[in-house]
Amino acid sequence: MQWEQVLAPRMGRMKASEIRELLKLLDQPDIISFAGGIPDPRMFPVAAFQEAMARVLAPGQAAAALQYSVSEGSAALRAWLADHMTGLGIPCGPDNILITSGSQQALDYLGKLMIGAGDTVLVNWPTYMGALGAFNAYEPTYDRLDPGSNREAADFAAKAKAKGGRVKFAYLSVDFANPTGETIDLAGRQRVLDLAEDLDIAIVEDAAYQALRYDGEPVPPILALEIARKGSIEACRTIYSGSFSKTLAPGLRIGWVCAASPVIGKLVLMKQAADLHSPTLNQMAVADVAARVFDSHVSALRQAYRARRDGMLAALDREMPKDVHWTRPEGGMFVWITMPDGMDGAELLARAIKTEKVAFVPGRAFFADGSGSNTIRLSFSLNDGPAVDEGIARLARVIRAA
Ligand SMILES: Cc1ncc(COP(=O)(O)O)c(C=O)c1O
Repeated sequence: MQWEQVLAPRMGRMKASEIRELLKLLDQPDIISFAGGIPDPRMFPVAAFQEAMARVLAPGQAAAALQYSVSEGSAALRAWLADHMTGLGIPCGPDNILITSGSQQALDYLGKLMIGAGDTVLVNWPTYMGALGAFNAYEPTYDRLDPGSNREAADFAAKAKAKGGRVKFAYLSVDFANPTGETIDLAGRQRVLDLAEDLDIAIVEDAAYQALRYDGEPVPPILALEIARKGSIEACRTIYSGSFSKTLAPGLRIGWVCAASPVIGKLVLMKQAADLHSPTLNQMAVADVAARVFDSHVSALRQAYRARRDGMLAALDREMPKDVHWTRPEGGMFVWITMPDGMDGAELLARAIKTEKVAFVPGRAFFADGSGSNTIRLSFSLNDGPAVDEGIARLARVIRAA
């Protein structure tokens, strides 16, 4: 079978993710890996889920837990999330919430909802590579969004027109971004809102790491700032995407979208057509666990990850050559390293694995224009103590040698 002749053109844009390939390395015991940006499984709230599953599968509940359910998602979970979002400064009701199979599904649906071939999506340079992967299927072009810049709306619009489409939305990983660990400050968020108003486009606010703040003051979500301007979520152009993956457990694949109800209505149609609904059992278990332990569990996570971040930053301060720079994130899972121009993260990784048995993610895949060769992403979520000191010492040796 010549598969090439039956593939749709969009498949040309879909490539294997460097991260997924690298995750295979986590199985080798002698490698110290800072590659996978995944939660520490030792921190999963296992007991809470055991209790929740027993409750959800008890007579009386089990039939509903194992049955098909509505595409919007579990009423109990949507009610909990409406309260949760209201607590974040986003007053809303269950009609403003759609449960998705992870926030990755939300990114796919939002791409499908808005992008026509040749349209432009505004993204940070670098941005979450999984968002580029999700959007690429809908054949967009990308333009660089820098919340610190004063580039005019007309310039974005003209560039998009020259590419044969229009700007549809801006996508931002707002808090402790994947991959840089950086947070967009209040002024940056207001500027993105102004730009979106001028261009009359949507904003996709990816808040996957929002709960994992270790120090500093929380910055209001862009959606909260927009509601403060307009009075109601129903008047807002910002679409908020949240996830339980980084707080409870990614294996459950439960995320959510919070937006004006007409947007939720369109996404419900999309979900009906794509997978009917996210797993009923998982939604019910998450609703049960979130109601009982979300706050206490997140505060335990913050304490553990804060110590790991501090350990990694201290090791970097100690070990790295002078001309290497890195971010100092206030939360999340990532530190972003910039090496001198001319260095190549991908080449470095090949050498690092072979000679020093240390792994990380080369930065280039996070850039929509393929730049950023001299950058790498480290995750501090999995390792603690001596492994971090040893891993960073190994990494510094590889960088020095290169
Ligand atoms: C910024 C960001 N958004 C979305 C996701 C997708 O996460 P999930 O589908 O597990 O919610 C990730 C996963 O790493 C991420 O880093």
